[in-house]
Amino acid sequence: MKSSYSIVLLPGDGIGPEVTAGARSVLESVASRFELAFDFREFDFGGIAIDRWGTPLPEATLSACMSAQGVLMGAIGGPRWDALKGEDRPEAGLLALRAGLGVFANLRPVSVPPSLAHLSVLPPAKVEGVDILVVRELTGGIYFGKPRILEADYALDTMRYTVAEIERITRVACRWAESRSGRVTSVDKANVLAVSRLWRETASRIVRDEFPGVQLDHMYVDNAAMQLVLNPRQFDVILTGNLFGDILSDLASTLAGSLGLLPSACLGGVTPLFEPVHGSAPDIVGRNQANPVAAILSAAMMLDEWGQNEAAQSVRDAVEFVLESGLKTADLATEEEETTSTSAFVTQVVNHIERVSITN
Ligand code: IPM
Ligand code: MG
Repeated sequence: MKSSYSIVLLPGDGIGPEVTAGARSVLESVASRFELAFDFREFDFGGIAIDRWGTPLPEATLSACMSAQGVLMGAIGGPRWDALKGEDRPEAGLLALRAGLGVFANLRPVSVPPSLAHLSVLPPAKVEGVDILVVRELTGGIYFGKPRILEADYALDTMRYTVAEIERITRVACRWAESRSGRVTSVDKANVLAVSRLWRETASRIVRDEFPGVQLDHMYVDNAAMQLVLNPRQFDVILTGNLFGDILSDLASTLAGSLGLLPSACLGGVTPLFEPVHGSAPDIVGRNQANPVAAILSAAMMLDEWGQNEAAQSVRDAVEFVLESGLKTADLATEEEETTSTSAFVTQVVNHIERVSITN
């Protein structure tokens, strides 16, 4: 019997609809090859939902996400909504969605296979073989701490973590480390912040008591940013809070060559949510230029989360094959190089998946 899965698509704004459509085509080709059935439903989310419904996360969208087996998001936001106040912005919808689903663990893998090291902004010799998993806490910290105040003459945000929140994200990082090289680097700012002192103490205790086989190191966030550029291969699993994880994952994306390559999974809640790390890229909207790889690889992470590892691997193999063959969307090309459109790139990935299925 076919395994079937209900997927909510949240194309969102900017290039979101273009890359989500690409990921959907790839999932459809995987479905026929691996005897899977997907039931896709699309909902408004982000700026487009503000325009249509007056809120970035309409009730109908959240409840569909809660009852689906996976949520695949595109991107949200854009200049059109930039003048809105904090709680009315598209980003507020994303935070409400993460909180509503309770997805506290954000996995952001950054890997650079040797064949693709030339895409990086750093010299290939430095990034070849980089394989980092950023485990970012996603539903706490300064993103959600109260009070949050914005007055004419001062403003306040609150960075807050409970021991329980730090414990559970530490366990996620350690479980991943056990299936990799066994190393976790916990990133904080314990030389200044009280929250970071609690973070450090708690992470150390969990590793000591529950994961004796894991090697835990601590690093200040400023140094971690420098080390990611100087010697990225020293990292395996990076465990960090919401704000530092946001910043370091964008930085780490430069190792791979482009933010357009990086997928992410938000786990640990009611329904897993998968989002490309990149934003809505207003400068290239509607031009069929966006890199669909991050969205496609996010779909692969969804397949993994469901235990469909073979299907997930076939997607990753196809993406790697197409990138290796030299096809490049604009974000990956130098000025002299020829570029490929979003849809042409997706077609090549789909062709590869189908070709392999025929020869198997
Ligand atoms: C990300 C994004 C979001 C974040 C924004 C859009 C709220 O930058 O997923 O990294 O800060 O978490
Ligand atoms: Mg970010």
